[in-house]
Amino acid sequence: MIERRTFLTGSAAAAGALGAAGALARPATAASTTGVPSTAPSTDAASPFRHGIASGDPLPEAVVLWTRVTPTADALPGSGSGPRVTVGWQVATDPDFRRVVAQGSTVTGPERDHTVKVDARGLAPATAYWYRFTLDRTTSRVGRTRTAPAATSSPDRLRFALVSCSNWEAGWFSAYRHLAARGDLDAVLHLGDYVYEYGTGQYANGQSNRVIRGHEPTHEMVSLADYRQRHAQYKTDPDLQALHAAVPWITTWDDHETANDAWSGGAENHQPDEGDWATRKAVARTAYDEWMPVRLSGTAVAGDGVQVYRHLQFGRLADLTMLDLRSYRSQQVATTDLGSAGDPARTVTGDAQLQFLKDRLAENDAVWKLVGNPVMISPVLFPPLDQYVAGPVADMTGILPPDGVAYNVDQWDGYTADRRELVDFLADRGVTNTLFLTGDIHSAWACELPVDPGTYPLSRTVGVELVATSVTSNNLDDLTGSPPRTSSLAVEDAIRAANRHVKHLDFDSHGYSVLTITPQETQMDWYVTSDRADQAATSTWSTGWRVAAGSNRLTAATGEAQ
Ligand SMILES: [Fe+2]
Repeated sequence: MIERRTFLTGSAAAAGALGAAGALARPATAASTTGVPSTAPSTDAASPFRHGIASGDPLPEAVVLWTRVTPTADALPGSGSGPRVTVGWQVATDPDFRRVVAQGSTVTGPERDHTVKVDARGLAPATAYWYRFTLDRTTSRVGRTRTAPAATSSPDRLRFALVSCSNWEAGWFSAYRHLAARGDLDAVLHLGDYVYEYGTGQYANGQSNRVIRGHEPTHEMVSLADYRQRHAQYKTDPDLQALHAAVPWITTWDDHETANDAWSGGAENHQPDEGDWATRKAVARTAYDEWMPVRLSGTAVAGDGVQVYRHLQFGRLADLTMLDLRSYRSQQVATTDLGSAGDPARTVTGDAQLQFLKDRLAENDAVWKLVGNPVMISPVLFPPLDQYVAGPVADMTGILPPDGVAYNVDQWDGYTADRRELVDFLADRGVTNTLFLTGDIHSAWACELPVDPGTYPLSRTVGVELVATSVTSNNLDDLTGSPPRTSSLAVEDAIRAANRHVKHLDFDSHGYSVLTITPQETQMDWYVTSDRADQAATSTWSTGWRVAAGSNRLTAATGEAQ
């Protein structure tokens, strides 16, 4: 999404000056962060395993295990210092490690920032495992993970958490804490913006411009050392560590893992004085590969050669394709040239990835086809808005101009030829039960995906899109300074009226979602955290939307999925 380095001042918001979009687009300056704790206390700050442990990308017979070690005081993230060491790992079927089923050791060192990644194989499908690491005589905490069901099995139920947009400076990761406490998840899908690249105070943090906790390094991450240090900082968060230790994660990146509004040849937040874009993209990917429990193809050649889009199978119940919508896309259209968004030469996926997705959707026999989709695919036209909210809406979503009928050109609305090709493909092949699982937009949406939005609801629909809100990153009430669920309601009503395939929209809430999949139906539940500035924030069920198998239509749920 278009997230300019802007912020609002409290006085301007209170004065109701928000209608003037120009007043919002103030240049970034370093916010006062005096007294702001720069780092959350780690759960185990003195341990060589102070950055936690994680698992990810579960297969029926394998799972990726991850940790980072600090063997000596100088072996700090990004430092390039410290010795090469041997790290042991174990996988067991019990938390006391009486029944160890796989173990080994691996060497790490400053060449990979002392991160450790093991693809533990030879495991049984649909099975819970516990794992831990050792360095000399120190043992890490114990993590729990779970393999995917066998490809030929037919699970009764799968349950995935959906999260995105977890900006450290914008608040605490309470969403992760509440998810870690559930104990009923097969995996966590992080749909992008796991880390943010900005220096302290450079990213809009709401009308109060309050930095809840400061980024490290304090400047924008550009070099390999910067990216490593930022990933390391996020990995000290105790709630993030708890959720990584509890459940395998399946992640993809959006733009902020590299720089805002990234495309194949650059980014809005990449300037010439920050060096060569290809170099920056490569070092961002290297750090991502090192610090995330992700199984990338060609992991031996971390950097620009890695492929993030990939496929995971969960028996005959669900098939998951995780997309990379930053590496191959054409540049976003200029706001003065919105009409070219449909140029068939433009792409958001790249040809090879679109073909990969089409093959997965058409050729697998899973009941549900899940697409981890970093930016929204549903078409969204915006009606003229009240001037009070038009500026903040434009600032949050990239809808330009604020008073016009336009779209967010950083999502599929800016690349309509690819969307047309994919929607027509699903319609022509009769593919049903495609669920686009999306993040990025810092708001909660449930949409049907019509073949022809103009004739909806008469139009056939080819799937639905379920959008998780941000863990912490700004949404509309943060930008306007209005109390939650007040001025935003009129905006939501206007958007739903102009886009009847949009069934649910919440512009204000932070939190997470839980997707419950059965052969008969899938339900997405949205949970709202009470206050991103409160490390002990509570969590409340907000709403749920269901799609019955074969329907490609949404209905409101009466309560949480059981
Ligand atoms: Fe974001």
